[in-house]
Amino acid sequence: MSNVTIFDHPLIQHKLAILRDEKTSTKEFRELISEISMLMCYEATRNLPLEDVEIKTPMAKMTAKKIAGRKLAFVPILRAGCGMLDAMLTMVPSAKVGHIGLYRDEVTHKPVEYYNKLPGDIEERDVFVLDPMLATGGSAVDAINIIKRSRPRSIKFLCIIAVPEGIEALTSAHPDVELYCAAKDEKLNENCYILPGLGDAGDRIYGTDVVGEVTVDKRGSTVKLPAKK
Ligand code: PRP
Ligand code: URA
Repeated sequence: MSNVTIFDHPLIQHKLAILRDEKTSTKEFRELISEISMLMCYEATRNLPLEDVEIKTPMAKMTAKKIAGRKLAFVPILRAGCGMLDAMLTMVPSAKVGHIGLYRDEVTHKPVEYYNKLPGDIEERDVFVLDPMLATGGSAVDAINIIKRSRPRSIKFLCIIAVPEGIEALTSAHPDVELYCAAKDEKLNENCYILPGLGDAGDRIYGTDVVGEVTVDKRGSTVKLPAKK
C-alpha cells in the first residue's frame, strides 16, 4: 500500500472528531471540511518540485525557491467534493478546476454519471480528485476512469474518510494513483455507508438531510435526527 498515505497529524485528527459528531451543525461541518482539506493539501503537495529563482529583498540579492512550473487541476466529485474545493484553491489559487457529477444509486450503490467538464489543457496538469468519502470506491474509480481519458500528467485522490473496501477497489483499478486520506475507518454497513464514518457527506455539507424527531433515512433505517443549530 505504498500509494496510500493516511494523515495522522493531530490537528487533522482533532478536527475530524468534531466533524464526525452528529451534533455538529451544517455551518461547522462545512468549515471543518474546509480546514481539514487545507491541511491535507499542504501535506499532499509536499513533493512538488522546486526551482531556484533569483530575487532581491530590500536588503540583498538571493537565490530563493519557487514551485517549478507544475500546473495543477482540482476535480471535485459532485456534490460533496465541492466542499473541499475552496480550501484547495486558497492554497493553490492558480489551479484550474474540473467537475465530475456522480451520484450513488441508492439500491445498487453503483455510481451514475450526470456531468463532466474538465480543463482543456489537462494533459499538462497534475490532477487532484476531491471527495470526502471513499466507501465502495465505485465513484472514485469511475471518476478517475473519466479523467484518464483526457491523459493528465498524474492523478492523486484526496478523501477525508476511507474504508478498506474502497482503498482496495481504488488501488487495484488505479495502482498509479496516489491516495491520501485523513482516516481509515472500520468497514461498510449493509447499505454501503462507512462505519463509524460521518453519515452522508453531501447532506451534511449542504444541510439536505431531513430534520425531525424520528424519521426514515434514505438507507431505510428509522433514525432520530438531531435538530440543526
Ligand atoms: C458520496 C460521496 C462519494 C460516494 C462514495 O456521494 O461523496 O462520491 O458517495 O461512495 P462510493 O465510494 O461507494 O462510490 P453521493 O453519491 O452520496 O452523492 P452526493 O455527493 O451528491 O451526495
Ligand atoms: N457516501 C457518504 O456520503 N457517506 C458514506 O458513509 C458512504 C458514501
